[in-house]
Amino acid sequence: MRRGTEFLGSEHAILCGAMSWVSERNLVSAISNAGGFGVIACGAMTPALLDAEITATRALTTRPFGVNLITMHPMLTDLIAVCAAHHVGHVVLAGGIPPKGSIEALKAAGAKVICIPPTLALAKKYLRSGADALVIEGMEAGGHIGPVSTAVLAQEILPVLGADHLVFVAGGIGRGEAIAAFLEMGAAGVQLGTRFACATESIAHPAFKKAFFRANARDAVASVQVDPRLPVIPVRALKNKGTEEFTAKQIEVAALLDAGSLDMGEAQLAIEHFWAGALRRAVIDGDVEAGSVMAGQSVGMVTAEEPAAAIIGTLMSECEAALRGRLVAA
Ligand SMILES: Cc1cc2nc3c(=O)[nH]c(=O)nc-3n(C[C@H](O)[C@H](O)[C@H](O)COP(=O)(O)O)c2cc1C
Repeated sequence: MRRGTEFLGSEHAILCGAMSWVSERNLVSAISNAGGFGVIACGAMTPALLDAEITATRALTTRPFGVNLITMHPMLTDLIAVCAAHHVGHVVLAGGIPPKGSIEALKAAGAKVICIPPTLALAKKYLRSGADALVIEGMEAGGHIGPVSTAVLAQEILPVLGADHLVFVAGGIGRGEAIAAFLEMGAAGVQLGTRFACATESIAHPAFKKAFFRANARDAVASVQVDPRLPVIPVRALKNKGTEEFTAKQIEVAALLDAGSLDMGEAQLAIEHFWAGALRRAVIDGDVEAGSVMAGQSVGMVTAEEPAAAIIGTLMSECEAALRGRLVAA
């Protein structure tokens, strides 16, 4: 983990992946204060809101933390300027290929840039473009996901890039034994989201947390695309009325498309609008029936509310015990 901790400036190379609405000042500072690396989820925030969130987080921790920016945010350039003004040390660019100039602008401001490549080819491309580190995230993860599992991505990318580059592994990690395994394969560290979402310091609604504690791995399902004409980026979330209604909505929109009542642009917008605000409804308002309770498959390993420091402590001792066991065996 040393390469990872030197890069992040934290005690442990464990990032708490940005989770929209969840990863705000309280959870981010708690993770960093506990020796992990917190990341603010900018999500759809305006530059002014991000500015306030960074200031508020700095008031709660003197330790390093990062900011996650979504590349398709219409005000990405302004958000980068906010990070630069605050001298944010690490910026994660998520949600697609970083637009031209974005990596350069962040690096010119002195930030280290972390990208999330979905394939080995894109991983190489991001490194050539100046990314300082990568997070590879498998489809076991909560939130928006790609099609490939963590185990396969790790096997494709770590043996090729792990020795000479900083690669953090994410998706489906719930225990320290898994962290040990990815470190052995060449990872510099790991990123977890689901395991931290219900930490004591997380502002997620009690109903959201309760849904996590009750859920098993098989309850965290990926949304399904119904019609090939209407692309849907899969989202992994707990099965509920909202997930069923989303399928029904797609069928309804496809029928309107067939009837000529909607054009393709309007149809896609109708699909996207369905989920707009759905995560907020679940996290903040506690509507776990109609809202989007985004969660990864590791949700079954989340059984009680614990302080961030206790979660990190457990992960690290499980990881150390696993590695020590291998040394003794050898
Ligand atoms: C509720 C929730 C919201 C998330 N929101 C974001 C986000 O806004 N940006 C992002 O890059 N990743 C987001 N993620 C993914 C996490 O940053 C992280 O990579 C993922 O949770 C790791 O996999 P795990 O859930 O299996 O631990 C989200 C995940 C969850 C569970």
